[in-house]
Amino acid sequence: IAQNFQVAIDGPASAGKSTIAKILAHNFHYIYVDTGAMYRAITLAAKLAGIDYQDEAAVVALLPQVQIEFKPGSPVQHVFLNGQEVTEAIRSREITNHVSQVAAYAAVRQDLVGRQQQLAQAGGVVMDGRDIGTTVLPQAQVKIYLIASVDERAQRRYKENQARGIAADLPTLKKEIEQRDYLDSHREISPLTKAQDAQVVDTTGQSIEQVVATISQIIKNHQDS
Ligand code: CDP
Ligand code: CDP
Repeated sequence: IAQNFQVAIDGPASAGKSTIAKILAHNFHYIYVDTGAMYRAITLAAKLAGIDYQDEAAVVALLPQVQIEFKPGSPVQHVFLNGQEVTEAIRSREITNHVSQVAAYAAVRQDLVGRQQQLAQAGGVVMDGRDIGTTVLPQAQVKIYLIASVDERAQRRYKENQARGIAADLPTLKKEIEQRDYLDSHREISPLTKAQDAQVVDTTGQSIEQVVATISQIIKNHQDS
C-alpha cells in the first residue's frame, strides 16, 4: 500500500504552525494533528493530579491513564482529556510555561510519538510540532520549517492573548517565548531542529493567506511529481 500523504510542519513557538496546518488540512481534506496540544494535555493532567512538574516518575506514571481526543471545530479544534473538554485550559500561561519541562521527559515523548504515528495511519495528514519531520514522520513527503522573527512571534501571541482575555505584556511574552524555544532546542531527546530535507518558510511580515498559498504550492508540486 502506498504511504498516505504526510505534511510535517515544525518550528518555534508562535510561528503560525497550528493556524497554517489546520487550514491546509481542511483544504486538502487531510487529518490535522496538533502534537503540541498532546504535550499540553499531559502537562494539564499532571496539574489536575496535583503532581509537581519536576517529578518525572509521577508524570510518567500518569501516561497510561491519559486519554487525548481531538474533535474538528472552527476556528479551533476541540481537545478532550479523559472526556473533558480542555481546549482553553491547555493554553493557560501556567501550562504554556511548564509544557517544555514535561515534553523533555523521554517516556513522555516515546508514548506521545507512538500515539501520533498511530493517528497518521488514518489517511493523509498535516501534523505540526517540533520533531515531526525529524522523528515522528521522517518519511513525510513535505517537510516545512516555519519561522518568523521573535518580535513578530511575540506580537502575534500578544494579540492572540488579548483576544482571549489573557493579560500579559509584550516584553514578558517575548521572554517566555525565547525561554521555551531555548528549552525545546536544547533538550536531549528530539530537540527542535530543522530536518535536513525540510524547506524553510519565513513568515515574518506575511499574512496567513500568503503562507497558506506558499505551502499549498509546495504540496501540489510534490503530489504532481
Ligand atoms: O503553539 P505553541 O507554539 O505555543 O506550542 P505548541 O505547539 O502547543 O507546543 C507546546 C510545547 O509542547 C512546545 O513548547 C514543546 O515543548 C512541546 N512539543 C514538543 O516537544 N514536541 C512536539 N512535537 C510538539 C510540542
Ligand atoms: O502553532 P504556533 O505556535 O506556531 O502558532 P499559531 O498559534 O498557529 O499562531 C500564532 C498566531 O499568529 C495566531 O494568532 C495567528 O493568527 C497569527 N499569525 C499566523 O499564524 N501566521 C501569520 N502569517 C500571521 C499571523
